[in-house]
Amino acid sequence: MKIVFYSPEGNAQPWLEEIGTTIPLAEVWEWTPTSADRQADYAVLWAPPMELFASQQRLKAVFNIGAGVDGVLKLNNLPPGVPIVRLNDAGMAVQMAEYVCYTLIRHTRNFDIYESHARNREWKRQPPIDRTAFPVGVMGLGNIGARVAQAVAAFEYPTFGWSCSEKTLPGVTSFAGPESMDAFLSGVRVLVCALPLTSATEGILNAGTLAKLQPNGYLINVARGRHLIENDLLAALDNGSLAGATLDVCREEPLPDIHPFWSHPKITITPHISAITLRAESVVQIADKIHALERGEAIDGIVETARGY
Ligand code: GLV
Repeated sequence: MKIVFYSPEGNAQPWLEEIGTTIPLAEVWEWTPTSADRQADYAVLWAPPMELFASQQRLKAVFNIGAGVDGVLKLNNLPPGVPIVRLNDAGMAVQMAEYVCYTLIRHTRNFDIYESHARNREWKRQPPIDRTAFPVGVMGLGNIGARVAQAVAAFEYPTFGWSCSEKTLPGVTSFAGPESMDAFLSGVRVLVCALPLTSATEGILNAGTLAKLQPNGYLINVARGRHLIENDLLAALDNGSLAGATLDVCREEPLPDIHPFWSHPKITITPHISAITLRAESVVQIADKIHALERGEAIDGIVETARGY
């Protein structure tokens, strides 16, 4: 079996080794323009160039080494009829839940204030928080968003979820579809975006949606930078309707030096680390799926390309 690997991040070697060890009978190589003619059965990749699909004539499946498949689906030469498979959690959901809970708790429990007091050697208590004053809304209730919402609910914050299709999660009040968006937003103070990036969700974090949140809202974006209209966030922070934002993703990554987000006192930036792909877990999952496909069995995680996730 032949497997081609591609990632623009310059980290091919450890992936090639991991795939080679996990699927010992596989011939594995890195796709480069010079190796393009070599034909593979399976592609394991992240953010490929169009030339990759143009060069591969007999792929049986494409495995995306991340949860979001926007970097693949944006290409207009996807091999017809070849399944695109996304990672199904593979250790990402727990990281995302951790990141969101940390950010939420840092904000609601006043850790920023304590850190600044500690720098001045001040021993000063803040009053206890009223959790009901911080209803949290998670947009996107797939593997990752559902895990996030349940982790938040476990800390007893009122928890709401919004997704395209109906979802039922214990401890989470769920809303579905565009028509319920306003009702969802108006009950939320801390908004978490865990949506896939599609033509329907691009720009969904905009002046209109942010204005519908409860006063002193807070935004946590762990999905994609293109969900957010950046100037609308800056305006909402500057006019006081939002108290702050933590952004793990930006329209341009790395965030340019001169970008106003870096120096904004109400914005915390992290470098797209809220859920890092775990190589070993991912390769085991991909190997299991390749073996299942070879046996003619069905696999999960196949993307509906028309839907965008
Ligand atoms: C990371 O952003 C991913 O989609 O896995």
